Amino acid sequence: MSDTGSKTDIAALTHAVRVAVAAASDLSALEVVKIQFLGKKGGSVTALLRLVGTLPEAERKPFAAQVNALRDELDALLEERKIALSGGAADAALVSQADDMTMPARRHGCNAAGTVHPIQQTIQEMVAIFAELGFSWAEGPDVESDWNNFSALNMPEDHPARQMQDTFYMPTAAKDNRGATLLRTQTSGVQVRVMTSQKPPIRIVAPGRTYRSDYDQTHSPMFHQIEGLMIDEGTTFAHLKGLLYEFTRRYFGVDKLSMRFRPSYFPFTEPSAEVDIGCSRAGGKIKIGEGTDWLEVLGCGMVHPQVLINCGIDPQQYQGFAFGMGIERFAMLKHGISDLRDMFNCDLRWMQRYGFSATQSLLHTVR
Ligand code: DAH
Repeated sequence: MSDTGSKTDIAALTHAVRVAVAAASDLSALEVVKIQFLGKKGGSVTALLRLVGTLPEAERKPFAAQVNALRDELDALLEERKIALSGGAADAALVSQADDMTMPARRHGCNAAGTVHPIQQTIQEMVAIFAELGFSWAEGPDVESDWNNFSALNMPEDHPARQMQDTFYMPTAAKDNRGATLLRTQTSGVQVRVMTSQKPPIRIVAPGRTYRSDYDQTHSPMFHQIEGLMIDEGTTFAHLKGLLYEFTRRYFGVDKLSMRFRPSYFPFTEPSAEVDIGCSRAGGKIKIGEGTDWLEVLGCGMVHPQVLINCGIDPQQYQGFAFGMGIERFAMLKHGISDLRDMFNCDLRWMQRYGFSATQSLLHTVR
């Protein structure tokens, strides 16, 4: 083989390699091309590689360099084409396996339409009732300052009442300029936010998530409360009683309701009370409104003058009341749910039983 002859052969073969690899339209065609050039028997590049060893010393080196360069190019082209073709294969698989989104949904034995969770439903109903009674909606963040959650509410750092609420504190890096931050243990902090940003008269309710380190049949580390606050000139405990009586009657849908206010203690109200409603437990079922038993449902009181001062409101001019209740408790009582933890298990069967369809939800909320 002459030097010029081998160069021409290699140049022609290189061209043939490029054309053949580019023309392979799928992975099996590419495999055929690979065998055509690199097959052990009859592969044209393989034949040239074999030739290297047979050449005289002087010709071997330059020829080997050219053949090796061709082989490297062929390897690279094959790999590149393989990647391109496999991508195409994956795309084709995606297209052939894709779901047709225009097909009607199958029900698979569960409620494919989705339902409104009883907690969400209860919040909607509660807010709707308070709206009818003249209260607007307010909110605050889940991660709250120590000041809003505790100190401003008359619970300074060494106050024993802080121990009643097992608090999740945020890592110290998250401290704001008023000290530590925490996952709010109560919605009462929204009172502080509203009083420091609005002028009386104030009438708000603030539903939302709250957190305490506690877990059993009646406690969950995350739960919901709704807070109420009214501040005006001449607001009295009688207004508080009237409001809570009317709210509870409307929420449970009963005409007659016995209710009692038991003296209690909260640092942010004075006087403070816990409220029980009458019920009967005959036949193991709780009936709200009548009977000789009592159920504790909420805490309330007249806003402590120190809290008003902390929020920049003059207690000589304004008085007010506040109340707070657990949303899960109201939902459980109304719908006969026995274990609080089921509320957060995301079990579709449970949601089918206790969840509300969109229309049911509206019918209950708008009266
Ligand atoms: N924040 C109280 C708690 O989590 C509930 C409460 C009681 C709120 C009395 C109030 C109130 O606004 O006046 O137990």
